[in-house]
Amino acid sequence: MTCSGDVARRNTALLEWYATHRRDLPWRDTGDPYATLVSEAMLQQTQVSRVIGRYEAFMDRWPDVDALAAATTDEVLAAWSGLGYNARAVRLRDAARVVARDGWPTTVNGLESLPGVGPYTAAAIASMAFGEPVPAVDTNLRRILGRWFGAALDGRQLDRVAARWVTDPAGDWNQALMDLGAVRCRPRNPRCDGCPVAEWCEDPTAYEPPPRQSTFTGSRRELRGALVRAHLDGDDPIAAGRALDRSDEEIDGVLEELRREGLLPNQ
Ligand code: ADE
Repeated sequence: MTCSGDVARRNTALLEWYATHRRDLPWRDTGDPYATLVSEAMLQQTQVSRVIGRYEAFMDRWPDVDALAAATTDEVLAAWSGLGYNARAVRLRDAARVVARDGWPTTVNGLESLPGVGPYTAAAIASMAFGEPVPAVDTNLRRILGRWFGAALDGRQLDRVAARWVTDPAGDWNQALMDLGAVRCRPRNPRCDGCPVAEWCEDPTAYEPPPRQSTFTGSRRELRGALVRAHLDGDDPIAAGRALDRSDEEIDGVLEELRREGLLPNQ
């Protein structure tokens, strides 16, 4: 099935579907690497519907890298509140500082050297803002390409298959797969009826949904969030940690970690 004619036909069907069914999202088609960086940082663990308003407010406040580079840690943490994984906000600001100083790297490798930018985000920026023909490989792509391929793909296979199948314009190809994964090729109960590429999909069951994420309540992440929020609100972080029934030892450990990462000021 992976003969090149089928790959080309599948890509054409995918891109045609995207042209008419794409979600109208504020970071799309800006051609702005900064807009892509901000949106991808927010979208890493948070749903599109929850990101849209936060993204627009963030871009109103810090419309470009120079503006964000001048933001303090407390300002970006406050603006990030509710999005989770606060360290991402600080790394995003740090990336803006590097770009404000040195300019944008335009290759995947160069982008990966920015704080907080891993292979996925680097490929997303390179393809969407700089037109590089690279696949943005994440769990969504792993699931869809595994189904097309007809078997679960491990990391190396996935990179190989994605590099072979991606096509120009890669920014659209990547985002078409994001939309396909959100509305049709979902992790559970994929809606294959009427799927634009069903004809070239080997096995929609060739993917095991991972176990659901472990609970937030009682997690280290919950405590980290509560301590940062207490700091921003001018409250006592230790009291906030105790209110979650955490031991002083655990609270101290997490406070130290947050200071080390630059999320809280050193005392
Ligand atoms: N998830 C991550 N990046 C996205 C994007 N650019 N559009 C829609 N969903 C996404």
